[in-house]
Order: sequence, then C-alpha cells, then structure tokens
Amino acid sequence: MSTTMEAITDHGPGHPDTVDRSGAPLVELKDISISFGGIHAVERASLDLYPGEVVALLGHNGAGKSTLIKILSGAYKRDSGEIFVRGEAAAIGNPRDAKAYGIETIYQTLALADNVDAAANLFLGREILTPWGTLDDGAMEAEARKVMGRLNPNFRRFKEPVKALSGGQRQSVAIARAILFNAKILIMDEPTAALGPQETAQVGELIKELKKEDIGIFLISHDIHDVFDLADRVVVMKNGQVVGGAKTGDVTKDEVLGMIILGKCPPGATPGPGAMKD
Ligand SMILES: Nc1ncnc2c1ncn2[C@@H]1O[C@H](COP(=O)(O)OP(=O)(O)OP(=O)(O)O)[C@@H](O)[C@H]1O
Ligand SMILES: [Mg+2]
Repeated sequence: MSTTMEAITDHGPGHPDTVDRSGAPLVELKDISISFGGIHAVERASLDLYPGEVVALLGHNGAGKSTLIKILSGAYKRDSGEIFVRGEAAAIGNPRDAKAYGIETIYQTLALADNVDAAANLFLGREILTPWGTLDDGAMEAEARKVMGRLNPNFRRFKEPVKALSGGQRQSVAIARAILFNAKILIMDEPTAALGPQETAQVGELIKELKKEDIGIFLISHDIHDVFDLADRVVVMKNGQVVGGAKTGDVTKDEVLGMIILGKCPPGATPGPGAMKD
C-alpha cells in the first residue's frame, strides 16, 4: 500500500478535541537518537502522548517509526535522549522494564499462539494456577470473558483456537492481552495493514473503547487513510527525523501527505527538526 497524491480535499474529521493535556503527558520521548552502523535510523526525535489520546505516527517505509517505538518498548537501546512516564524519568532498558511502566506493544504479527483459544492466549506465560499448581482454566476463561466483554462484547468464540478467528477478532485478542495486564500506553504497529475495511472498522471501535479507559495509544502507519480518522494528533517522520506534529482537526489529509512525501510542515502543524527549510 502506498500513499498517493490523489485529490483528497477533505479536512480533518473535526472531532472535538476532548483530550485533557493540562497534566503531565503519559509518556514523553525527548531527543531520541539511535544509529545502526553509520545510519541514523532515528535522529533527535521527540514525541508525547496524553491519557485517552491516539497519536498516529506516520511516514514512509524506513522513516524510523518502528525503531523509535521499539526504543519506548525496550526492544532497542537508544544512543541518546530521555524517556519520561507521567513526568518522571523512566529507566527502560528492556521489554520487561517497559511493561512495568504499563507500556505494551502489539506488533503486526500479533504474536498469538494459533492452536489455543483466546483465554489461553491472554494468559500465555502468565497463567493463573490453582492452589494445587495446576492450570485454573475456569478462572482464566472468566477473566477472558470479562476483559473481552469490555472491549468487544460481540465476541463469542472463546472455545476456538485463535487461528479460526477473523483478523479483527485476533486483533481484539491481542489488545485484550495487553490491557489485561494494565497497559496504560499501547503501541500498535500497523494494526490494520493486513485487514479488510470491515475489520479495520472493528479495530477502530476497539480503539474508541480504549480511549474511554484513558489508555494512550501510539498508532503507527505508513498509510494516512488507515489512521487519520482515529487519531487526535498526527506526528510525521521522514529520514529518521520528526517533520512535525498537529492536531488532526488543524490539518488536511493533503497537508499531512505533504509532510510525509516532501517533509513540508503546514501552518497548522508544529515543525520538528526534520521539517523542510524554505
Ligand atoms: N536492527 C536494525 N539494523 C540495522 N538497521 C535497522 C534496524 N532496524 C531498523 N533499521 C534501519 O532504520 C531505518 C528505519 O527503519 P524503521 O523500521 O524504523 O522504519 P519504519 O518507519 O518503521 O518503516 P516501515 O513503514 O517500513 O515499517 C531504516 O533505514 C532501517 O533499515
Ligand atoms: Mg515499521
């Protein structure tokens, strides 16, 4: 899928900006840099996220989106820069540290165990045991029903191996697993890239539920059409640098395409170090 310059004239969705940004951000990345060999994969990138907010991180293939977010999730170690969680410096050196801060990542592959059911997937590696040390299947299924009820009340297929589920249903299992363990910051890397329109809409519904619970979401995509309507703000990266960020209602899709393709920061956006100088 590629972003095209077809005639897109619509303005931002204009959904009222209900995000409260008066307190400390849920998470703040400041001046993050990382190189592989001699290549600056991410260079002085800054990004923040507030409770109940969806921030779309956009940019072409190789822009540095996944690398930046892997620093937040503890998968990569940054060369420089700082991470703050709720205003306090956070020591994130590995994925376990990130999870302790309530940061959970859902990769495109979802990392589900295909041959077991939803409940078994939710508790994979963190199983509930009976006092006798055996698996407490009843307790796990009850918890699974509770969390799925919150997220996707129509979900009924608790007894089937997850490989039998649709893409959207599998996505809800992966999200349920993250929030079951109290994720406050959710990173979704290309969540809808492999889904059809109906399933993409279903992921949109899931995201709205998560917002209601004040969970903050980084939504990574290289396709603006996938995420524009879901995001409260967009941040665009190019060649490892942040081009700029804007509230979705303050920029048009065309302008965001201009940020992605040309690195041109429109008047409604705040420029970053990667903005084209004119
Ligand atoms: N482990 C690694 N080793 C070497 N280079 C890497 C590594 N991870 C990423 N890179 C490089 O860093 C740059 C940024 O890649 P990244 O995967 O973050 O881009 P992206 O914006 O997520 O792209 P896409 O939309 O294709 O997922 C690329 O030049 C990539 O080749
Ligand atoms: Mg990527």
